[in-house]
Amino acid sequence: MAKVLIIEVDEALCQKFQELMRTFTDFSFDIARTYVEADSYLDRSRYEFAIAETDLPDAMRGKIIALLNRYNISPIIFTDTFDADFSDGFESANIADYVLKNHPESIIEVLEKLKRLEHNRNKTVLLVDDATLYRSYLQQNLVMHNFRVLSASSDSEALKRLQVHFGIELMIVNFHSSNNIDVIELIKKARALMGKKDLHIVVLTSETDSYSTASFLREGANDYITKPFSRDEFYARIYKNTHPVELFESAQTGLSQNILNLFSEMTEFKNLETSSHIKRISEYSYLLAKLYGMFDGEANVVGEMAILHDVGKMFVPYSTLSKPDQLTVEEFEVIKQHTVMGEEFIEKAFKENQKIGKIAKDIAKYHHERWDGTGYPEGLLAREIPIAARIVSLVDVFDALINERIYKEAWDLEDVLFYIEEHSGTQFDPDLVRLFVNNIECFMNVLRKYDLDSSRNGFCRLSKE
Ligand SMILES: [Fe+2]
Ligand SMILES: [Fe+2]
Repeated sequence: MAKVLIIEVDEALCQKFQELMRTFTDFSFDIARTYVEADSYLDRSRYEFAIAETDLPDAMRGKIIALLNRYNISPIIFTDTFDADFSDGFESANIADYVLKNHPESIIEVLEKLKRLEHNRNKTVLLVDDATLYRSYLQQNLVMHNFRVLSASSDSEALKRLQVHFGIELMIVNFHSSNNIDVIELIKKARALMGKKDLHIVVLTSETDSYSTASFLREGANDYITKPFSRDEFYARIYKNTHPVELFESAQTGLSQNILNLFSEMTEFKNLETSSHIKRISEYSYLLAKLYGMFDGEANVVGEMAILHDVGKMFVPYSTLSKPDQLTVEEFEVIKQHTVMGEEFIEKAFKENQKIGKIAKDIAKYHHERWDGTGYPEGLLAREIPIAARIVSLVDVFDALINERIYKEAWDLEDVLFYIEEHSGTQFDPDLVRLFVNNIECFMNVLRKYDLDSSRNGFCRLSKE
């Protein structure tokens, strides 16, 4: 598995990197907080990728890039500001990409870019151009993003390549009036060989008249880029024309909705929860994951897997679960076992899909852990508790308090919020509490969807504060 060096000064960002990397990727990684630390890590091990803040306390801006380049690494820059100066130095400095820090999804964006760089190793691009200089410039940019690059300097050579290498996903043809390549002919012949889905064709052109650009598209090109173009635009078009890579291949977990419903019905049946509790938990979890900075794909996985949080209760005796009186110490010990039993069950059920299974296991096993380390089953402390479990733990309590249960009345929103804020930093992750409370209207909307009590009306505006 590829190894990543993260160079970041800010402690909170480092922690967030750590947990999101662990939750959503298989990369192994080290974190350096200074130039000197980065230098010594690079000296000791080999890294395929690096994510780097360029403003380090012990080095001039940009010095870290030179260091990484010495180790043949083209980093992803993670920065507050991206000004023109910086962007000018971009190409000579071998920077693969950049992400601005100023939005809550920035870390997930970095992870997706990393994942993409890793995936690109299996993607082959064919560059067709008879001008060597320009071709090598494009080649350099593609290689920096880890693409495998083949090149051809004539149409016949290009067609030969397409016949030999079935895996070519994208053909970039550089059209200029002085070259000897008949672009239209090449597109036609390439199309005869491969369908529009299997091979994407992008033409680079300085022709801006719509007649020629339209004719490229008509003959089978998928897209064109007008010269001159910026690197950002070049990459954007390339990625639009290669198969997308997300941390999770699609927003869906691949489990059919029926199976998830079945699980939720089974747990609810024994659990004596209100019938829509699990569906609400799923929606709240999705929402909180989004607020925390996950993209749709990851937040969906957390939301869907939250359905399974109490799946272990299937293995706890019904008589204990449904006991109306105070539980004895022994009985409580039995109930606590639903966490590890849930984990074991998911382990078996998700053999085929370990990546998603891991998140489901995190949730089932750790949704009763507490931020201050006094929860169960392991007494994990603070960020040791996986993020997906911290999310579910908060919304699970919220939903239990705000609704009626066999053992209690529904609480008023004010009391619920008071409880949650009072337990910020002891039971719950303070960051999540802040996001939750600031966006309470959105969570209330989910509640209302399943609620007949129309007095809980309102509207919602997301705030990622
Ligand atoms: Fe539980
Ligand atoms: Fe629950």
